[in-house]
Amino acid sequence: MPVGCCCDTSCAKSYYGAEPGGCLSSRSLLGSAINQEEYVPRLDNKVAIITGGSGGIGRAAAIKFVGEGAKVMLVDVDEAALSALVSELGNNVAGYCVADVTRTVDTRKYIAATVEQFGGADILLANAGVEGEVASIEDYDEDTFDRVIAVNIKGVWLGIKHLFPVLKERGGGSIVITSSTMGIKGSPGLSAYNTSKHAVIGLMRSTALDGAAHKIRVNTVNPAPVETRMMRSLEAGIDASDMAGTHARIAASIPLQRYGEPEDIANIMLFLASDEASFLTGGVYMADGGSTA
Ligand SMILES: NC(=O)c1ccc[n+]([C@@H]2O[C@H](COP(=O)([O-])OP(=O)(O)OC[C@H]3O[C@@H](n4cnc5c(N)ncnc54)[C@H](O)[C@@H]3O)[C@@H](O)[C@H]2O)c1
Repeated sequence: MPVGCCCDTSCAKSYYGAEPGGCLSSRSLLGSAINQEEYVPRLDNKVAIITGGSGGIGRAAAIKFVGEGAKVMLVDVDEAALSALVSELGNNVAGYCVADVTRTVDTRKYIAATVEQFGGADILLANAGVEGEVASIEDYDEDTFDRVIAVNIKGVWLGIKHLFPVLKERGGGSIVITSSTMGIKGSPGLSAYNTSKHAVIGLMRSTALDGAAHKIRVNTVNPAPVETRMMRSLEAGIDASDMAGTHARIAASIPLQRYGEPEDIANIMLFLASDEASFLTGGVYMADGGSTA
């Protein structure tokens, strides 16, 4: 079979070496390229800070980042969960810092702890978040509104603000903010959460422009419902008497007919954090099973 036969799409399977006796020339070209290049982990030598690091998505991201060579500093308010995850990952590649992301003093503390333990930082996954309650605007509790805004907006703002000098000194970095499909469309009963997830897109765009000259990239990942504690809480808020039915209805409203798994979201976070995404900044990346198509 002549070299170049795989321009013919009927030969596509053979091109990838899936069938014996297929396109040997192309297959051996691919094979030798793979064999000759040693695999370099996608976050080799990178240090990542992950806020909300012991929650559903943060945990999945931590496992994936460490699996791709990163050292991670996990930040959360839940010390027991942080400590257990660091033991699982190994304290040579993971550390933790108990911190409330809404507080300047705590933000400085987790950044200092990262620099002290790992010598610097390259990546911030600004992922800590709270859902608030499900209530119509006239019934929404004001203190709950303030808390959602503080964690989901100010917490992200503080993290970026205080990490910028560290990233500049490092010669660049990647900041990934966890927004939501609720950051680009509305949902009844979620006024505070909706507001906060829209707001961080504005924050991302502004800081992407602030950071560009310093090779600091900033993007958002926008998940649809994901199988974590947060969705259990929201399902209870929508209809505590029928959480399974609520789950089924929400899943059916997603074109791919399911919630995301935390790993689905961690996959795109990993990509945006890595140098593979070196030309990507100021972007909104949907991870939503087609929900906003
Ligand atoms: N689960 C979903 O369906 C979904 C969808 C879209 C976006 N998101 C976003 O993903 C992010 C992660 O959520 P998750 O689904 O893993 O939920 P989760 O509740 O499992 O994780 C959130 C984590 O944030 C931590 N946290 C809360 N307040 C904090 C504070 N003040 N300081 C430090 N840590 C704090 C919590 O302790 C928790 O571990 C959130 O920003 C959330 O809004 C989730």
